Amino acid sequence: MDAPFLFVDEVQTAGRRCLVRLDLNVPIVDGRVSDDTRIRRILPGLKSLRQAGARIIILTHLGRPKGKVAPEFSVAPVAARLAELLDCQVPVEADLLGEGARRAVTELADGDLMMMENLRFYAGEEANDAQFAAALASLGDIYVGDAFSCTHRAHASVEALPRMMAVATAGRALGAELAALHAALASPARPVAAIVGGAKVSTKLQVLENLIVKVDRLILGGGMANTFLLAAGQDVGASLVEADMVETARAIADKAAAHGCDIGLPEDFLVATELARDVPHRIALPGEVTPDDLILDAGPQSIATAMADLAGCRTIVWNGPMGAFEFPPFDSATTAVARAVAKATQAGDTMSVAGGGDTLAALANAGVSDQFSYVSTAGGAFLEWLEGRELPGVEALRREA
Ligand code: 3PG
Repeated sequence: MDAPFLFVDEVQTAGRRCLVRLDLNVPIVDGRVSDDTRIRRILPGLKSLRQAGARIIILTHLGRPKGKVAPEFSVAPVAARLAELLDCQVPVEADLLGEGARRAVTELADGDLMMMENLRFYAGEEANDAQFAAALASLGDIYVGDAFSCTHRAHASVEALPRMMAVATAGRALGAELAALHAALASPARPVAAIVGGAKVSTKLQVLENLIVKVDRLILGGGMANTFLLAAGQDVGASLVEADMVETARAIADKAAAHGCDIGLPEDFLVATELARDVPHRIALPGEVTPDDLILDAGPQSIATAMADLAGCRTIVWNGPMGAFEFPPFDSATTAVARAVAKATQAGDTMSVAGGGDTLAALANAGVSDQFSYVSTAGGAFLEWLEGRELPGVEALRREA
């Protein structure tokens, strides 16, 4: 049976115009790229396309200019950084729909690279407009989707365009991301555990609903654990809670139990009366949390239990920090657990996938970003995948699409 996707490495790209959709939505400070992680990730794919003699047309968005040209959202600094990293010219073409783009594309030689100006300067991009997609399609022979972090957006360059192209392929970075995600939840080695932290239950409701039917253990941390603690009848003092989510938390706990998913909640806490670095704090057991206390991290017993629970797990998925990790010492649980997962991964005992929002910063803070099996740089797309949703940009690349 055919694999669900056609990968770019399987097609002849020499001399062909390749429309490569990347996510080069990177932070720009004073006209320069301040974090080039996303650019570095896609370098191997671009280098291999160049070596193959492809004519590369990079498509990306940057920020949210809302369908209007806004110079501060120009991709020029991104192209400049890419040019430095690849040591080649990366001209930017601003006239996407006119003669400029057609000429620029015709002038590309084998192995050359160019970048189209920010796609979101055009309203047609976010509207998934067929005419806008068709204009882009006319500039290339092969589509290469290599932007997992945009696949949750049904935008023209992500959804309509690949469906229009005679040859629509998945790029290397996307292929690696899909393989890691598949191994983590679609066909995981068991037992499989998920660690879900972060501030609120309400923003991760769908994530929790999806995970409790897929994983054997769900370890909860961060502010959202407080709501579950409250639901279990525990006093959480002045901690962040969502009182209106208590019933929902109870229902999730019941559903998890019915599916044989074991939910792990903190058994002791690091508490303080304000959220700041190095403030006076203490360890509190259940029943010892006073009305002024804020639960800001899990305590040592909880860390030991989480580590013991994770020890035998062959697959671990992580989203969201376990405490207020930006304010030491409330990074203790996140750091200890991150290091334990990293160690198990490096020992070959565990396949670990982490991603989404603060998780990357938390892993970097623990010094283990490169020691997980896969760390996704996607924010929204990673969350939607954790929610079990279909991602329009992935669906559009399926062979039968
Ligand atoms: C991201 O940075 O997560 C992607 O580029 C998507 O950006 P968006 O949230 O503006 O669509």
